[in-house]
Amino acid sequence: MQRKRSLTGLIGTSSLAGTLRRVSDSRFRLTAEDAYALSTEFGTPLYVIDEGGLCERIRRYRGALAALWPRYEVSFASKANSTVAALKVAHDAGATIDVASRGELEAALRAGVPASHCHLHGNNKSLDELRFALEQGVSHVMIDHLGEIDMIATLPQCATKFVLRVAPGVDPKTHAKISTGQADTKFGFNLANGAAEEALLHARKREIEIVGIHCHVGSQLMDGEAQENAAELLGIWLAEMSTKHGVSFDYLNVGGGLGVKYLDSDEPESIEDYVYRIMSRVRPVLEEAGMEPLIGMEPGRSLIAECGVTLYRVGVVKPVGEKTYVAVDGGLADNPRPVMYGAQYQVELLRDSKWEYQTDGPGAMSFTREVGEGAIVTVAGRHCETDTLFPDVELSRIPEPGELLQILTTGAYNSSMASNYNRYQRPATVLRRSNGEFALIQRPETYDEMFAREIIPEGL
Ligand code: LLP
Repeated sequence: MQRKRSLTGLIGTSSLAGTLRRVSDSRFRLTAEDAYALSTEFGTPLYVIDEGGLCERIRRYRGALAALWPRYEVSFASKANSTVAALKVAHDAGATIDVASRGELEAALRAGVPASHCHLHGNNKSLDELRFALEQGVSHVMIDHLGEIDMIATLPQCATKFVLRVAPGVDPKTHAKISTGQADTKFGFNLANGAAEEALLHARKREIEIVGIHCHVGSQLMDGEAQENAAELLGIWLAEMSTKHGVSFDYLNVGGGLGVKYLDSDEPESIEDYVYRIMSRVRPVLEEAGMEPLIGMEPGRSLIAECGVTLYRVGVVKPVGEKTYVAVDGGLADNPRPVMYGAQYQVELLRDSKWEYQTDGPGAMSFTREVGEGAIVTVAGRHCETDTLFPDVELSRIPEPGELLQILTTGAYNSSMASNYNRYQRPATVLRRSNGEFALIQRPETYDEMFAREIIPEGL
């Protein structure tokens, strides 16, 4: 059996063993009662996202920017969660939509977002993708390489504006697979070696007006240090280029990147502090240069990750040597992040009677955690490989088959990265409406949908 121990060292003093302890943070959680009811209605795994929490975070970004700069835009990076209803919620809450492919643009359009409220990224956009985006009338296209300038030059004139994506050469101090701002990144034009200036001049030659620059230095950044350095470099470059080449820039976008609380021990910087840090570095540069561009930010994870949970039902509970495997009815097909990035999550065992919750306003919930004897388990997926979802999970006790586990902070990069590996159907998503009701926004995939693209050629 895996080491069993009291949870007292983790969440309380020894006198608390066997009692209930109150914990509070702003990550969305379901009550056990709601979780069991939703799982009965929609099956498991099940993604649930919280409308109020998403709107609140957009409001906080916008409020923090509004306090510091007259012209700003908060875009929701739809790669984090492109469920159509979520994009509608984000747009209705005042965010524009950042898309990185035609598919993400299609999702935004289906959400009723005007193309003029979307901008397009991509390090290898196809001509068809660019043509479609321009025909639809996206607000900005972030140009990633010189060839893209030539491609755009072949397309009809349109209302879309063009921005250079640049690599400012800062170290974002995050997982290598989600670092994008370093000098040798595949994304954009290097700022320091003259590549960005060359692109500016090349665009001028092709009669394409560049209105500004963009960078995104990395993701799951626990503080804004790399971002503030990058923002200042971007501001300096705009000022320099404006003087040197007489260009009047109107746009500066510092991307997304702010991290979130996955584990109880994670303490990411607040949205307000993050925005403040960035603005306090870039604002003096712009003011000195007499420039007032629209400042854009395009967070994904910090808008929606903490607003989502995943429910799994416990199946087999198997002691193997020192370990206790708790197998659940999901895995790397619905959350590839543990396998891809070694991501860790907070796992909670839901049991009706031992949990008490109350909502503390939008996006905030107090809850009472069951404190039992304690157990450390390995939560395993159901896929045909070692898809350990969550190693060394501390639970109040060993779960029983049929009980639910609630995984916090799964609103970002879970459903949008889900696959059909092992031919499992992708799960449903439910939205907890601001009025507390639950609405299905993506139903579980059917086998007919899964096999709709298959063709057995005649004579095979
Ligand atoms: N803007 C651009 C140009 C980006 O490339 C990204 C993320 C964002 C904005 C949003 O970044 P956020 O605020 O979410 O950090 N699949 C990985 C994350 C990849 C992020 C890629 N770019 C994960 O699951 O951690």
